[in-house]
Amino acid sequence: MIRSFHIIRCNLLQSFVYHFHKLFPLLKLGFVFAVLICSSLLALSQAFKTKIHAGRERVSLNNNWKFMRYDSDPDKLIYDIRPAITDPNDDKVADSKPTEAVSVSASEQVLKSWILPGANKFINDRAKHYQQPAGNPGSDFPFVQQNFNDSAWEQVNLPHDWAIKEPFYDGPNPEVGGGMGRLPSHGVGWYRKKLEIPITDKGKTIFLDIDGAMSYAMVWVNGKLAGGWPYGYNSFRLYLSPYLNYGGDNQLAIRIDNPNHSARWYTGGGIYRNVWLEKVSPVHVAHWGTFVRTPKVSASSAIVELDVEIQNNSAFDQSAEVVSSIFQLDGNFKPTGKAIAKFSKSLVTVNPGEKQKVANSTIISNPLLWGPPPAQKPNLYVAVTQIYVGGKKVDEYKTEFGIRSLQFDPEKGMMVNGKPVRFQGVNQHHDLGALGAAFNTRAAERQLEILQELGCNAIRLAHNPPAPELLVLTDRMGFLVIDEIFDSWERKKTPHDFHLIFPDWYEADTRSFIRRDRNHPSVIAWSFGNEVGEQYTADTGAAIAQKLAAIVKEEDPTRPTTASMNYAKPDMPFPATMDIISLNYQGEGIRDAPAYAHLRGIRTSPLYPAFHQKFPDKMIISSETASALSTRGTYILPVTYGNSAPVSDSTGGDPINKFVSAYELYTAQFGASPDKVFASQDKHPFVSGEFVWSGWDYLGEPTPYYSARSSYCGLIDLAGFKKDRFYLYQSRWRPDLPMVHILPHWNWPDRIGQVTPVHIFTSGDEVELFLNGRSLGKKKKDIYEYRLRWDEVKYEPGQLKAVAYKNGKPWAEEIIQTTGDAFSLRAKADRYLLTSDEDLSFITVEVLDTMGNAVPTASNMIEFSIEGPGEIVATDNGNPADLVAFTSTKRAAFSGLALAIVKSKKGAAGVIKLKVSSQGLKDTIVKIQRK
Ligand code: GAL
Repeated sequence: MIRSFHIIRCNLLQSFVYHFHKLFPLLKLGFVFAVLICSSLLALSQAFKTKIHAGRERVSLNNNWKFMRYDSDPDKLIYDIRPAITDPNDDKVADSKPTEAVSVSASEQVLKSWILPGANKFINDRAKHYQQPAGNPGSDFPFVQQNFNDSAWEQVNLPHDWAIKEPFYDGPNPEVGGGMGRLPSHGVGWYRKKLEIPITDKGKTIFLDIDGAMSYAMVWVNGKLAGGWPYGYNSFRLYLSPYLNYGGDNQLAIRIDNPNHSARWYTGGGIYRNVWLEKVSPVHVAHWGTFVRTPKVSASSAIVELDVEIQNNSAFDQSAEVVSSIFQLDGNFKPTGKAIAKFSKSLVTVNPGEKQKVANSTIISNPLLWGPPPAQKPNLYVAVTQIYVGGKKVDEYKTEFGIRSLQFDPEKGMMVNGKPVRFQGVNQHHDLGALGAAFNTRAAERQLEILQELGCNAIRLAHNPPAPELLVLTDRMGFLVIDEIFDSWERKKTPHDFHLIFPDWYEADTRSFIRRDRNHPSVIAWSFGNEVGEQYTADTGAAIAQKLAAIVKEEDPTRPTTASMNYAKPDMPFPATMDIISLNYQGEGIRDAPAYAHLRGIRTSPLYPAFHQKFPDKMIISSETASALSTRGTYILPVTYGNSAPVSDSTGGDPINKFVSAYELYTAQFGASPDKVFASQDKHPFVSGEFVWSGWDYLGEPTPYYSARSSYCGLIDLAGFKKDRFYLYQSRWRPDLPMVHILPHWNWPDRIGQVTPVHIFTSGDEVELFLNGRSLGKKKKDIYEYRLRWDEVKYEPGQLKAVAYKNGKPWAEEIIQTTGDAFSLRAKADRYLLTSDEDLSFITVEVLDTMGNAVPTASNMIEFSIEGPGEIVATDNGNPADLVAFTSTKRAAFSGLALAIVKSKKGAAGVIKLKVSSQGLKDTIVKIQRK
C-alpha cells in the first residue's frame, strides 16, 4: 500500500516537471534540478522506510567457542575494584548477622562507567540514566582483536561451567573453600567466537542474548566494548547491530570475572547458560515485551489481557498493526487446531528508537485451567502476536501462558482456581550436581521428576533467578514457584557478594528479572530477598525493602511480593513491607528446644501465632524449614531420644568421615527435624505450607563439615539418590500412596546383641515390625507423631519386615535383610534412548550380593568405560565428602550406589555401550541408543 502510493506520487511529480519545462524554458534548468533532488530524496527515504525485514530468527550461539582462564586479574579490564579479603574462612553459620559494606575506591581505570548505561532500559526515571563515557576501553587488548590467534585456547561449547571438571581443592586453606564447593569457580575467563553475519542481514536488528554468565560479563564486538551485565543470574541482551560487519566475519570476545567469596554456595564460573543471536526486523516485539494476565477466571470463561510492546529501531516513525490470537498447546506443547480466541487489531505509531505498548483483552470460554497436579492439570496456551508494517508481516512472537486464578488467603492458605493447595515445597539451588552450574534441560527435568515422585508441588528458587528453561519445565510439570532474586542487598554475607553492586544495579536487576519471568503461570510470587541484613536495621532496612517491593509491583501488580525473614519479628518495620509473610525457621522456633540450649545465635520461640496476629490479612509461608542434615545410608549410634537435635561431632556427626547420621533427626544449629516442623505446621493450620531446606543436596555450604564439597541438607543427595528423609516427606505429602520405609540398613556385623534402633516412615497410621519372623510389636502414630520408633531393638542378622496398616486395614509392606558380600553389579539407566545431543542418560549402579540383594554398605571402586558414539560426562556417588573430580571414570560406590552420566557425541548415532566393572565383581554393560 505505502509503496504504491509513493509510486503514484512520484509519477505526478514527474509529469508536472515535464509540463513546467514546456511552458517556461528559461527557468527550467534550476527548477528541474531542485525538484529532482527533492523527489529523489523523498523516494529514497520512503524506500528505506518501507524496507522492513520480515521475521524473527533465534539462533543458538552455543557451539564452538574458544576459552581460556586465569585465576587472577592480569588484564586489568576490571569492572570495579573489590575490597580485600581479610578473613578467608567461609564456614560461618548460615544465619549469622550480615555486616556492613566496606567501601573502597579505585585509583586505576575501571570499566564500570561503560557497562552501567546497559541498565538504563530498566531504570524508569530518565534523570537517573547513566551516560556513556567517551572512549573504548580494552580495544587495544589482544583478546578482543579480530586477528588474535586463539588456536591454543580450549574449544568449548556452551552452557559451560569452567570449574566443574577440575580437581577439588583438598586440605586446609584451600583457594576456594567448602562454602563455594572447593572448585576453581573464581578468576577471569575469556570466551572468543567468530560470527559470520551475511550481507542479507543488513537492515536487520541483531541482538546477543545471554541467559546467564557468572559473572561481571563484558562483551567486545570487533574490538568495541558493546556492554555487559555484572549479576551472574540475570539474563541480558546487547544490541549488536551498530558493531557488526555485515557480509563478513565478526569477532565476539567475552570477559567473565567471577570473584571468590561471592556467595555462600557454589556459583560455577563462565557462560553457564544458553546464548542466542536474535535477528528481528527494526520494528518488532520488544525484549520481554509481552505481558499476559488472567484477571478473571472461572470454569466457564476467562478474561485474558495481553500487553504488547512494539520497539522501533529504525530511523523513522513507523505505523504498526498488532494482531494476536490464542492457541491451545497439545501434549507436545505445540499449538493445536484453530485459534480459540483473537484479540482485536491495534494500530500504533512508534517513534524512532522508542517503544509503544498496546493493551488488549479477550475472553476464552470453557478454558482449560493451569493448576498443580495431582488434583489439577497444568494446561497451557500460547498467544501468537504478529506485527504488520505497511501490510507486510514483520514479526511473529509467541508467549506461552496458563489460565489460573491465585488467592493468598491468610486463613485457608494458597488457593489455585479456588481450590486449596498446601505448599509441599522445597528450596533448590541452581547447580545440577556433578554437571555443575552449566544448565542442561534434561538434568533439571530429572531433578523435578524425582521431586514430583516425592509429592513436592512447589519450588522456591534459592536465592536467584533460574535458567529460563527451568520455568518452562515448572510451567509444563505444574509446580508452584517462588521466584527469588537476591540473597543480599546493601549489607553483605560474604565479602564479594551482590552487595558490591546493589546500589547501582538493584533497579535494573529487579525489573529485568520480572519482565523475563512474568508470563510463567508457575510463578506465583516474587521474592526480592532472603534473610537480608536489612532485617536488622529497622526503618533504614525497611525503606530498602519498600523500594524493592514498589518496583516489583510496578512491573507486575498481579502477584504478591515477599522476602524471607529469619530475624525480623512481627513488631519490626521490615515485615510490613511485603504481601506474604515468608518465615525461615522462625515459625517452628529457632534454637528453642532443649538440645539447642547451649548454642549462640538467633533464638526464638515458634512465631507463627505472633505473625498471624500482627498481620491477620497476610498469608504466611514457611519459606525455609528444617535444614536437617544427613549423609545417605550412614547411621551413627547412639541415636538421640529427642525428636530434633543439632548435629555435632559427638551427636549425629562423624568428623573423621564427615558423615551426618541418616536417622534424620539432626539439624543445622538453627534448624529443626522434619518431625518438629510437621508438628508445628499441624498445630498452626493457617500456615500455607512449607519449603524444605533443601530438595536436593547442592554444591557448597557443606554444613557441618566445611572440608567437604557439597551440602547435607537435601532429601535427595547430589547424585539424585533418595535419602531416608525422602520417604518421611513422601509419607506426609502422598498420603494416598501405600508406602512404608525401614531404617537403618541391616548389615551390622559388629553390633550383634547391641541396641540398634529401627525407625519407620509410612503413609499408613500403624505398623507391626518383625525381626526374623518375631513380632516386635505394633505401634500407632500418635497425634503430632510422624515416625514410628523401635529404639530398643537388639541387632541380630537376618530380616526386618514392616507391615503397615491404615484405618485398621493392611496398607503396605517392606522387607530388608542382612546381605552377603559384594558379588556383582547391576546398572540401570533412566533412559535407554537419547534423542538429542543435549540429552543425558543417568545410570545408577548398585552393588549386589550373590542373592541379588543390594549391599547397602558397599564401597567398591567402580570403573566405567564407554564404546560407541557416547561419552561419560561425570560420575558421582552422593557422598558430600568425596573429593574425587566429577570427571573421573573411577568412582567408589557409596552406601552401595554410584552414578554415571552419559551423553552422545555431537551429531553421532548408534549404540553406546557403557561397561561397569569393579575388581573381583561380575561386571555389567548398559546399552543406550542414540537416535
Ligand atoms: C538458611 C539460608 C539458606 C541456607 C540454609 C542452610 O539460613 O537462607 O540459604 O544457607 O540456611 O541451612
